[in-house]
Amino acid sequence: MIIVSPSLLSANFLNLEKDIEMFNKSNAQWLHYDVMDGNFVPNITFGPQILKQVCTITDKFIDVHIMVVNPLETIDYFENCRIDMLTFHYEAVNDLQQCNAVIDKIHEKGIQAGISIKPNTPVEILEPILHKIDMVLIMSVEPGFGGQKFMPNMLGKCDWLHDYRRKNNLNYLIQIDGGINYETGKMAVEHHCDCLVAGSYCFNNPISFDHGVNSLLSLKKENQ
Ligand code: DX5
Ligand code: ZN
Repeated sequence: MIIVSPSLLSANFLNLEKDIEMFNKSNAQWLHYDVMDGNFVPNITFGPQILKQVCTITDKFIDVHIMVVNPLETIDYFENCRIDMLTFHYEAVNDLQQCNAVIDKIHEKGIQAGISIKPNTPVEILEPILHKIDMVLIMSVEPGFGGQKFMPNMLGKCDWLHDYRRKNNLNYLIQIDGGINYETGKMAVEHHCDCLVAGSYCFNNPISFDHGVNSLLSLKKENQ
């Protein structure tokens, strides 16, 4: 079963409660929450205060993607939020020992740990830490904004992660984020992605939010 994680970045912030109710009623399993600091990426979004309130109106899995220069400190800012998965960027620390420290801190809080790489970062660099992470997030656009065009040449990274997982008997999830719609989602599923993040395709879907979610959820079945 494919996991669909609609990205709140594309929600209508003037009507956030309504959009979260729409998400709650849908078949989407996760909610993707993009934290940007205006430093690691050229954009600023939302932080712990808003997430704390969001968590009070949904029981679904909270999937937080932090695009910040200081993941180790940022974890503490979210102390009072109910987070299920916390994903940080390898490029924010650029050092495997530091990555280990971030992963350990996330796990100590009882949260699953994900690591993400930007399009220009080779996936093989993550090899020494793959045994201890719960998810790898492959960015299929440059992080910073919703509504960008999918980069199909990122799919080779998903194949590599799938092979490595099988050969080493590991269990991490493979997530992809950026430019996902029905066509690109189909490609991602064919390249072994387990979890599809989709912002504009769900929240700005011309038919409906449910249509966006359900068409992505149907992908696994078609390829099985
Ligand atoms: C981009 C964010 C994404 C974004 C995806 O940096 O990490 O989660 O919301 O938006 P779409 O699906 O519109 O490309
Ligand atoms: Zn994201």
